[in-house]
Amino acid sequence: MPILDRFNLTGRRALITGGSRGLGLEMARALGEAGAEVVISGSNAEHLHKACEDLCSEDLHVTSVQADLSKPEEAERLSDVVLNEHAPIDILINNVGGRRINTPTEDLALEDWQRILDLNLTQAFILTKRIGAAMIPRKWGRIINISSINALWPGKAMRGRSYETSKGALTMFTKAVAADWAVHGITVNAIAPGPFLTDANKRWIGEKPAFEGEVADSIPMGRWGRPEEIGPLALYLASDASSYMTGSVLVIDGGKLLW
Ligand SMILES: NC(=O)c1ccc[n+]([C@@H]2O[C@H](COP(=O)([O-])OP(=O)(O)OC[C@H]3O[C@@H](n4cnc5c(N)ncnc54)[C@H](OP(=O)(O)O)[C@@H]3O)[C@@H](O)[C@H]2O)c1
Repeated sequence: MPILDRFNLTGRRALITGGSRGLGLEMARALGEAGAEVVISGSNAEHLHKACEDLCSEDLHVTSVQADLSKPEEAERLSDVVLNEHAPIDILINNVGGRRINTPTEDLALEDWQRILDLNLTQAFILTKRIGAAMIPRKWGRIINISSINALWPGKAMRGRSYETSKGALTMFTKAVAADWAVHGITVNAIAPGPFLTDANKRWIGEKPAFEGEVADSIPMGRWGRPEEIGPLALYLASDASSYMTGSVLVIDGGKLLW
């Protein structure tokens, strides 16, 4: 097969959680441009509407389902809606997550710890279990978990260590399920991004403007990642191009972990 054809997703359908903004939106665009039908989810109806409008105006095939994935029961409901109305799903990108809080461990309330674990980990487990199980009889599937370099390294700049913990667990969940489901033709890989200039980080920069330059200076390439730079990597993992890769954690960070 010609090399570029291995990246072609015509006839494939993808679910991308948190596909309305940031990295998720750019991964939806990348997979859509490669020919996939894409279902995006998010908690905010206006953001979803705008993302669908923008992507459809680019002639991409995109629909959306609203669900607040900070709540496990909403992840169950999203699975039901997707399996009933949008099946079969060939590619699942568990992208929703975030730090949200900057509280030192000694002050962290149990409910905040649990909330961040649910946001980064529990919903990804539920979606992998439900949507991934439906891939097993079809003997082909791609699951991509959006982890973080903070799964491998506790960042110096910020607290809220429930984030590092949950991304670390998501990374090991990736490897364990990859081992179990390799026999079914399903690959499970993780992407570990470094700092990308998305709304989530713009919020932190809004609180502390010096953060933007400090982070850029800490990266060998001297700049933040641009959200669209994650698209080609997601496409690789979503397509036949990555047929011999499973259980891997691919770092994309401008060299941040080198220093
Ligand atoms: N940006 C980075 O530098 C960076 C670095 C390492 C890892 N990551 C990881 O990459 C992923 C995406 O990050 P991002 O920076 O692109 O985030 P973002 O700009 O905040 O976008 C997050 C997306 O997730 C959706 N979302 C947020 N909370 C949600 C909830 N409770 N339920 C459902 N959807 C929700 C948002 O939609 P609504 O607001 O409309 O719900 C949006 O579509 C996260 O897992 C993050 O931890 C990011």
